[in-house]
Amino acid sequence: MSATRNAVLLSALIVLVLPGDAFVEELDDNFMESRSADDVWLIKFYAPWCSFCKQLDPVWHQIGSELKSLGSPVNVGKADGTVSTGLAREFKVRGYPAIFMLKKDVKYTYSGPRTKDGIMDFANRVGGPLVRSLRSLQLFQNAMSHHDIMFVYVGASSPLKGNFTSAAEELIVHTYFFSTTRDVLPKAVSIPSLPAVVVFKDGTFFTFSEERDGNLKSWINRERFPHYSKLDSYSLYATGESGKLVVLALVDDGLCDDGLRYKHLVEKVSAEHRDAYSRDFIFGYMEDSEYLNGLVMGEVAVPSFIVVNLSIDAYFLPPGTVETERHLLDFLDGILDGSIPSQGGNSIGQRVQRVFYDIWVTLTLVFSQAPLLGCFLVILPLATVTVSCYLCCKNRRSMSDDDDDAAASAPSLQNRQKRAHKKSD
Ligand SMILES: *[C@@H]1O[C@H](CO)[C@@H](O)[C@H](O)[C@H]1NC(C)=O
Ligand SMILES: *[C@@H]1O[C@H](CO)[C@@H](O)[C@H](O)[C@H]1NC(C)=O
Repeated sequence: MSATRNAVLLSALIVLVLPGDAFVEELDDNFMESRSADDVWLIKFYAPWCSFCKQLDPVWHQIGSELKSLGSPVNVGKADGTVSTGLAREFKVRGYPAIFMLKKDVKYTYSGPRTKDGIMDFANRVGGPLVRSLRSLQLFQNAMSHHDIMFVYVGASSPLKGNFTSAAEELIVHTYFFSTTRDVLPKAVSIPSLPAVVVFKDGTFFTFSEERDGNLKSWINRERFPHYSKLDSYSLYATGESGKLVVLALVDDGLCDDGLRYKHLVEKVSAEHRDAYSRDFIFGYMEDSEYLNGLVMGEVAVPSFIVVNLSIDAYFLPPGTVETERHLLDFLDGILDGSIPSQGGNSIGQRVQRVFYDIWVTLTLVFSQAPLLGCFLVILPLATVTVSCYLCCKNRRSMSDDDDDAAASAPSLQNRQKRAHKKSD
């Protein structure tokens, strides 16, 4: 206890004594040549004008100081992408802030929430071994208590182990990979044959089967999400990568009676019909409907059920009221057999409509909160467009009126000078 307090005091002292960036190195275009190849780096690209980058600054400093005090091998750096343009190009930075890990020559992009916990977890996961070995039951249990989802390779070396490691190389940004042997695992974990890849999640486990599940990496990508969970717009968007449909109970955060019932219904169906539906569906509930309103382009009823196909922004609504488990099962079966049509989607028409919808939503929001600003926002572009059209038409007319005297039609400096010359001639 007092040891912890001392450590805290010590790190507070270090923070006070050392200058601002003692834990975070400023990197420039020479970085890739000058670093030693075995170093692991956590790097943030920022731009001077980017306000999200400024918000991230104190977090970045904390991360630097914490990783150092934990004795982590991960170095923390930052680079101004508008100055170190070569480095930014090397990392293919497209927006700010951008967060990466560099390990050997592999770059890993962080796309999670920009919180200290999220980024620290990413740094520890990617910075550590690709596949962590669990040599005792105690280590296994410890890992189980820390991770909601774990992929575990069981057995000796084999070609499957090669596939497992190469999947880990790509998917370590999202989840944890372990390896162990049969004798380490608790007796209750039954495995049909070795070697095997097992996923532990949702309080249960199941084994990869090449025959049934196909490619190992795709299977891991599908199974790396919890079967049932609370989702927000960020995590909902991320589940799209599973390629599965997402079954949602949309509820208000106060959870009225109906909301609770909807939520429990989804949870019950997800748990009791896991075998039938886990290949096609992920289940969850959401307390914030903004993302879905955007997807549906309207106000989604709350509470309600909705199923979304995030790969094409399509959605399914139940044809009638859903009161019982049977109704919900019929709804899901209807989606699978194609009898319930999907709505929305990402066709060009839908996309254009969505752009207009977004503009409309933004304007209504602005009008309701600051009517004057709203008028300004509408009238200014309208006025600009009108004036430009007017000038454009006028120019075109005068250009055809008098092709010779281009000067009169194009109000550019060059032409005005030309005209001045003409006049002086
Ligand atoms: C293992 O990797 C090889 C080579 O990439 C691939 O052909 C094979 O389908 C993979 N097997 C599994 C089970 O993913
Ligand atoms: C989502 O929509 C695409 C395009 O229609 C389709 O190919 C895909 O199978 C759908 N996803 C699921 C899980 O049904």
